[in-house]
Amino acid sequence: MKPLSLHVRDEGNGPAVLFLHGFPLNGGMWDRQIAEIRTRARVLVPDLPGFGRSVPTPEPPTIEDFADLVLAALDARGIDRVTVVGLSMGGYIAFRLVERLGERLAGLLLADTRPNPDTEEGARLRHVLAAKVEAQGVEPAIEEFLPKLLGPTTFRTRSAVVERVREIIRGNQPAGLAAALRAMAGRPDSTPLLSRLRCPVLCVAGEEDALTPPEVARAMAEQIPGGRWIAIPSAGHLTNLEAPEAFGIALAELLDLIG
Ligand code: MLT
Repeated sequence: MKPLSLHVRDEGNGPAVLFLHGFPLNGGMWDRQIAEIRTRARVLVPDLPGFGRSVPTPEPPTIEDFADLVLAALDARGIDRVTVVGLSMGGYIAFRLVERLGERLAGLLLADTRPNPDTEEGARLRHVLAAKVEAQGVEPAIEEFLPKLLGPTTFRTRSAVVERVREIIRGNQPAGLAAALRAMAGRPDSTPLLSRLRCPVLCVAGEEDALTPPEVARAMAEQIPGGRWIAIPSAGHLTNLEAPEAFGIALAELLDLIG
């Protein structure tokens, strides 16, 4: 993979916190968290290739390539210690950063994610959707993902959140979405990494998350030395957007622990 420079929002001062967005969103999903913690931390928020303001990669990327690009963005800024917050696909990339960062990893918040790879059928469906997105644009991804990303409480009571998610997705390029779908379909099993984690780790899941329910967060935390987990009420898969107050408290507690 040729080096490619990601667009990275880099704001605030203090210990570095890296936010990795989920699929099919972009760094814009973290606006509220950025505003809240830039008074106490240096916040780094990349858009992955083909998402938001980052260009797609010239060749098909893997999840490992995404991790390399994110690491290059940290290295270019001289970041030596970092807490990583990854939601769903962002979590898949966070797992691949564990060995790359080693001792530089200060803490980890794994939101609505899972360490295991796709099933064969799951991977096949991603390839089908990737081809559809290439042919028709981002709308098929909205149709397919939106009902799974947000919980029933959000659909019932938070229409502004539903609209914001649509708007964020429309800020991405079809080529970026298609490439990320194929990258996720081929991602490796990160389960063996869990027992090797040595930093404070918090696993979070929305109680209404249909994609990665709280049992997934609990099972993941149980394999991590000292790993903790919480379920966030009235939230689906996008906990930071659906329940920002509860998400903010969880993140602040993790950052307090790291010091
Ligand atoms: C995400 O939110 O990043 C996606 O749900 C991840 C996935 O499709 O596996």
